[in-house]
Amino acid sequence: MNKQDNIDDEISDSMKAIKQKMEYFISILNELNKMTTSHYIKFEIVNLSTLLDEAIRGVKARIIDKNIAWSGKVNVSIDKTIEIEIDRNQMYEVFVNIIKNGIEAQDMEGNISVIVNAQNEDVIISIQDTGCGIEEYDNDYILDQGITSKQDSGGTGFGLSNAHLFINNHSGDLSWDSTPGEGTVMKIKIPKRQINER
Ligand SMILES: Nc1ncnc2c1ncn2[C@@H]1O[C@H](COP(=O)(O)OP(=O)(O)OP(=O)(O)O)[C@@H](O)[C@H]1O
Ligand SMILES: [Mg+2]
Repeated sequence: MNKQDNIDDEISDSMKAIKQKMEYFISILNELNKMTTSHYIKFEIVNLSTLLDEAIRGVKARIIDKNIAWSGKVNVSIDKTIEIEIDRNQMYEVFVNIIKNGIEAQDMEGNISVIVNAQNEDVIISIQDTGCGIEEYDNDYILDQGITSKQDSGGTGFGLSNAHLFINNHSGDLSWDSTPGEGTVMKIKIPKRQINER
């Protein structure tokens, strides 16, 4: 390899590093934008099964975008007739962020299970992975903005805090059960209908 090749390699490495940083800042700005515009809510009746299918396609696109070679599946168990009154964009983001977290927590062949249970007034969507789990001491922090264990792969730490904000906008609730080394189930509970529309 001659001197010019070395210089070219160094330039191309610096360009790659700059590109990575730019992409990281753009994703932070993107997440901040979603947060600051989260009060623009448009409730509409949506078929939950259709929205989950769209979100799963959205996750796959984001995973490909991040060059993650994931070969698992998302298995959904749902009554396909369930309709809920939601802001479609916000709940789409909730599902994408939480399913993506599950995929990132486990082996690249690991599957995700989404189980939907409808009750009288509410619907509970459980998103289960068999990944690394969440350590006891992290439970208090994972909803905070900017908290991430994925610094090396461009994680912003805004995914879950935005999901939480959007669920709250629906008068819903986000909870989880996790066992370190075994996996996590994230539970989203939202009312089927919005009684006090803002
Ligand atoms: N299913 C999960 N299993 C294990 N850890 C999780 C899970 N979901 C979230 N976490 C932990 O919570 C942190 C915060 O999640 P959050 O979605 O807010 O940010 P992120 O995934 O790191 O970044 P981004 O969402 O921008 O890609 C994660 O970095 C991870 O450590
Ligand atoms: Mg995330």
